[in-house]
Amino acid sequence: MRSITVDGSTFPCQPNETVLQTLLRENIQVPNGCRQGLCQACMIRSLDNSPPVSAQVGLKDTLNYFLACICHAQQASYDRCLTQPAGRLN
Ligand code: FES
Repeated sequence: MRSITVDGSTFPCQPNETVLQTLLRENIQVPNGCRQGLCQACMIRSLDNSPPVSAQVGLKDTLNYFLACICHAQQASYDRCLTQPAGRLN
């Protein structure tokens, strides 16, 4: 089972769950809205590897930022994330 570490705390990912669902289930405050990859409110950044391209749709300069609502935790190729983006990228 994969896990995600955010701000020093590690959380297990359930099968078929998105990164956003994992974080919200664990009571991590992540801004969100549409939950369909449209509003970009849930943008967070991987501190490890590049996130899946499919979770970066609509982002111009990705810099390892991705949309947590459309990134399935099981497909993620990273472990550590920041929940506070430096700013909107587009
Ligand atoms: S909640 Fe709107 S893009 Fe993720």
